[in-house]
Amino acid sequence: MLTVAVLISGTGSNLRALLEAARHPDFPARVVVVGADRDADGLAHAEEFGIPTFTVPWHEHDNRDAWGAELGRQLEVWSPDLIVLSGLMRLLPASLVAQYAPHIINTHPAYLPEFPGAHGVRDALAAGVSETGASVIVVDDGVDSGPILAQERVPVLPGDTEHSLHERIKPVERRLLIEVVQHIATGELALTS
Ligand code: GAR
Repeated sequence: MLTVAVLISGTGSNLRALLEAARHPDFPARVVVVGADRDADGLAHAEEFGIPTFTVPWHEHDNRDAWGAELGRQLEVWSPDLIVLSGLMRLLPASLVAQYAPHIINTHPAYLPEFPGAHGVRDALAAGVSETGASVIVVDDGVDSGPILAQERVPVLPGDTEHSLHERIKPVERRLLIEVVQHIATGELALTS
């Protein structure tokens, strides 16, 4: 059974989808802990599913390395086989990436390498493209630059707002994330940096 730690910053809708998938007895992975960089609303999903949570507040640390060191200490308690960044809106420090690589994956609301970074949906809208997408990647030292594990196109429709487009992308992200975690757990997908 693959053990998974999920890190979030926001509402955790993708986390919730993974928790729902993982509660089926034949799903080959279990979420063992959910962490956040703030008092994120999404932690409530973990609590509802009886999954332990922790918070390492970004603003209580002097810099990325200090924050990442504490995050690393929290993760070590659980020694997860896989870390899923599911809407974590912070870059991990290189030392933490090196410790777990290539066993850290990230969901992103764009068709990478298009529109990396914190505003993937907004940037796609601003560029006026007719389609964007969703991606699941391996985390490396860069910004959304690691190997792509799964991705799918999503249309941009006339009149779309950042919210409406993001809401169209998220169900695709959820499906890709669940498939990727399942395939990592069964060994159908091998992670490489
Ligand atoms: C997701 O769309 C995720 O891909 C994105 O934040 C959203 C979190 O939604 N992450 C990034 O943009 C990272 N660069 P959720 O909290 O409802 O799951």
